[in-house]
Amino acid sequence: MSFEVTSVDKKALGGKAIRKQVTIHLGGPKGKGPAINVLIYLPANAKEPVPTFVGLNFGGNQLVHTDPGITPTKNWVGSKRKKSPRGAAAGRWQVEKVVGRGYAIATAYYGDIDPDFDDGFKNGVHPLFYKKGQTKPADDEWGSISAWAWGLSRIMDYFETDAMIDHKHVAVLGHSRLGKTSLWAGAQDERFALVISNDSGCGGAALNRRAFGETLKVINTAFPHWFCGNFKKYNNNESALPFDQHMLIALMAPRPVYIASAAEDRWADPHGEFLSGLHANGVYRLFGKTGLPADKMPAVDRPVHGTIGYHIRSGKHNVTDFDWEQYLKFADKHFGRK
Ligand code: GCU
Repeated sequence: MSFEVTSVDKKALGGKAIRKQVTIHLGGPKGKGPAINVLIYLPANAKEPVPTFVGLNFGGNQLVHTDPGITPTKNWVGSKRKKSPRGAAAGRWQVEKVVGRGYAIATAYYGDIDPDFDDGFKNGVHPLFYKKGQTKPADDEWGSISAWAWGLSRIMDYFETDAMIDHKHVAVLGHSRLGKTSLWAGAQDERFALVISNDSGCGGAALNRRAFGETLKVINTAFPHWFCGNFKKYNNNESALPFDQHMLIALMAPRPVYIASAAEDRWADPHGEFLSGLHANGVYRLFGKTGLPADKMPAVDRPVHGTIGYHIRSGKHNVTDFDWEQYLKFADKHFGRK
């Protein structure tokens, strides 16, 4: 692995931010293997290393802002790579708001790490780890979600080398399948000081045994490449699982973790997402922390912020201004900024 800083613009976004772009080369020298292209915005007036939000994006770095200085990432459309339009997901990223609050925000396209289709694990990072003669991960080895989470850890490796990033205060976040990913990244890598799951649903924060909305059979059939092969054994057999998702949440303890749901996102089972936070409380208590200070599902648009944060916001499956307001508030609280 090697890091290449490909551009730095100290006057980005009309002087409000510093834009930095970094390529993480994997599997040998530049051009030999996969590469993760990281886009970072830092507050222009930062005098010391800044706390940072990091998350993967769905369609290329240029989606997060109309800023013409962003080097477009070619994204996978089916098995081809194309460029998606600038700023198309700007509402989900809120770059100006985040840097205005004194945080850096960093992102990379998840398809740089592993494409999100069932390609037999040929095009992403998995082949870098194959033993001699191996052509795909074994049933107890990683799928795509795990690979995306691994990629987030490589971005963290870069942060540790960048004097402008306060790598002890990095919040990892993700939406939907990338919320499943941020939870797994947080579970695997304790360098992430705060973990945020936005509408992560099945395989993320939602309890499997409820089998409400998306079930294991449905997810493992539609997205056979997301999880390890062995997970399919629990299709229509959730009660045989030796774990459930509250244990995934508990793996963040004692670090702060935020679970967000949306009222119209019943596919992701909001109540199951809440319950996995609630039932992680026992482990937070072992660390002398409260966890989620609620005993029943809070009302819509009434966030609850303990060491575990939770809200169910009105509206659909998305990342909104309301969600970001909560994440910023939660990070301020736990990073001792207010
Ligand atoms: C589908 C899938 C969900 C996933 C979502 C997304 O709806 O069934 O599990 O979270 O896509 O990533 O947008």
